[in-house]
Amino acid sequence: MRIDIITVLPELLKSPFEASIMKRAIEKGLVEIHLHNLRDYTDKSYNQVDDYQFGGGAGMVLMIEPIDKCISALKKERQYDEIIYMTPDGETLNQRTSNSLSLLTNIIVLCGHYKGVDQRVRDILITREISIGDYVLSGGELGAAVLCDSVIRLLPGVLNDETSALTDTFQDDLLAPPVYTRPREYKGLKVPDILLSGNFPEIEKWREDQAMERTIKRRPDLLEE
Ligand code: ADE
Repeated sequence: MRIDIITVLPELLKSPFEASIMKRAIEKGLVEIHLHNLRDYTDKSYNQVDDYQFGGGAGMVLMIEPIDKCISALKKERQYDEIIYMTPDGETLNQRTSNSLSLLTNIIVLCGHYKGVDQRVRDILITREISIGDYVLSGGELGAAVLCDSVIRLLPGVLNDETSALTDTFQDDLLAPPVYTRPREYKGLKVPDILLSGNFPEIEKWREDQAMERTIKRRPDLLEE
């Protein structure tokens, strides 16, 4: 998979890809991440990429020209399955979306900033708009990092058995059951006996029951879908 990220703040997006699972996925050649600085695609003085909004009002808007130039240059090199705009008014990201994006080959992720991008970008260049939740970030970069993390860990070969995504919360529309590690007892707090029993069918059943109980208690909405 190849992910091209267009941003005015590439430095904000570097470190998430330089650690842990995303770093390993890149090193293994399972994903390519390419950061593109929008300022490299403007002819204006001071590398200007934003301007005041027509009709007045506070806040700058990213202009269509540099975005169009950047996306056009990328599209000349290869076909893209989706061109995603990170925005708080997009569809809310969930595990289903991450699963389906993980099956794609090439995607572009555009990070908004300030008041967002000129509407014409969204009308003609963008194929999908994604929000990571009902709150406003200063820009799309952290959202793009979240999106990439959730997608990359699903690519075949990225996780090993120990970190398998199959047992993740949400993977079967349920929250994950509680987990424990050593010691067996800490300040009087004991690990449930069943987990120490060695009876694996019973342990599996306990985990399923716990997952269901936790989902009913914390996220009953997941069971309604
Ligand atoms: N940009 C600003 N807020 C955002 C959000 N909640 N999700 C994705 N991109 C954003």
